[in-house]
Amino acid sequence: MSGGATLNVVILAAGQGTRMRSAKPKVLHEVAGLAMVQHVLNAAEALEPSRVVVVVGPDMPQLAEAVAPWPVAVQQQRLGTADAVRAAAPLLEGVDETGDLLILYGDGPLITAETLRALQEQKKSSGADLVWLGFKPPDPTGYGRLLLAEDGTLEGIVEEKDATAEQKRISSCWAGYLLGNARVMLDLLEAVDNDNAKREYYLTDLVRLGRATGKVSRISECGVDEVTGVNSRSELAQAERLMQERLRRRAMEQGVTLIDPDTVWLSHDTQLAADVVIHPNVVFGPGVRVAEGAEILSFSHLEGAKVAKDARIGPYARLRPGSHIGEKARVGNFVEIKASRLEAGAKANHLSYIGDATVGEGANIGAGTITCNYDGYGKHHSDIGAGAFIGSNTALVAPVRIGANAIVGAGSTITRDVPDDALGLTRAEQSVRPDAAARFRAQRKKSKEKS
Ligand code: UD1
Ligand code: MG
Repeated sequence: MSGGATLNVVILAAGQGTRMRSAKPKVLHEVAGLAMVQHVLNAAEALEPSRVVVVVGPDMPQLAEAVAPWPVAVQQQRLGTADAVRAAAPLLEGVDETGDLLILYGDGPLITAETLRALQEQKKSSGADLVWLGFKPPDPTGYGRLLLAEDGTLEGIVEEKDATAEQKRISSCWAGYLLGNARVMLDLLEAVDNDNAKREYYLTDLVRLGRATGKVSRISECGVDEVTGVNSRSELAQAERLMQERLRRRAMEQGVTLIDPDTVWLSHDTQLAADVVIHPNVVFGPGVRVAEGAEILSFSHLEGAKVAKDARIGPYARLRPGSHIGEKARVGNFVEIKASRLEAGAKANHLSYIGDATVGEGANIGAGTITCNYDGYGKHHSDIGAGAFIGSNTALVAPVRIGANAIVGAGSTITRDVPDDALGLTRAEQSVRPDAAARFRAQRKKSKEKS
């Protein structure tokens, strides 16, 4: 990089996360459908960094894959937070006198770009060399305590294990996030030793080491929720809850009605337009977009689906990836749709499976219609024309085409194309025998009396 100030970001993620009791690295566990480290990357990327380096432990190939194209630095041994940043140093880009270095944690999915920008603001306005993100946890046990000087600058951070009884009473703690001049930080890191209770290389030592050479540290504060870290499954559930609250609040601020917000589960990327109404108990998997005025009724599950203006989905509908529901179209109870387009005004109101199909404008799909899209080897397409009427309990054996405005009689199994305006019907001849039911009952009654 040449020219203006650069920003390098280092995300610490070398912890194995033993308390998760998981085969996969901790930071790959998901919150709102996205890996925790990906949430952190999103916040970092909003600051337009020139380089992000993720510090991983040995044997975490999945993690390297997940954060690509950003590079990973392997910390061979977990010797402490300062050692972890040192492991990333050779990969940093364009570190100059004016560039900054930001340290984040991969297991803190709730951090926001706004809070990171506040760190940048504080550094700029105060002229400090290092800005540390402070917070006040309800229980400070385990956190590094912030030791503030009279003039408001930061004098030191003392770890729980090294703290005196009096220092342990301090409620302001370091959240673990740090922004500083990159050159200053890298030089100071060289001097960090492990002469402490945990025999670890502490990043917090940069406060003290900096002060000794006239480098000023300050703090910037944020709310507890943003810096809640995840170390166990129950903390993962807690982070999920906080993230859901944030996503629901954001949706409502944008004009979405959530009738009972606590029962609606959103994905990190759910896009709901203004005047969308979401009824209680609806679940959004990743990749859903719902346009203005559409309504999603209770107990529906949507994933990878687009819903156009004023469409009505559910109750009890399932939209799987590749579903496109057109304007004012309707998908009713116990209807599953996959990789299919329903054009404007089309209706599939009851008990159907529509897979790998196109359903033309205004077509009506009767109750119990099934597109038989899979023959055990491959998937095949069903094409249902505009204005077509598919009678109830029809099996459409794909590949098959039903023409525009055609009618398919109820109970048919359709294996050949039905042209436009034609009637397609497969049905055994119906026989009616007068009085046969009455005779049958009389017979049964008589044989019962004999026995
Ligand atoms: C650290 C801070 C503490 C702060 C707290 C906030 C130090 C010395 N202490 O303590 O002041 O209040 O975080 O949560 O920095 N990591 C590595 N490699 C290592 C060690 C850690 O990558 O060798 C990563 C971990 O995966 C984790 C993060 O750094 O994401 C913090 O490590 P952790 O062991 O949780 O530090 P704490 O003791 O909690
Ligand atoms: Mg910790």
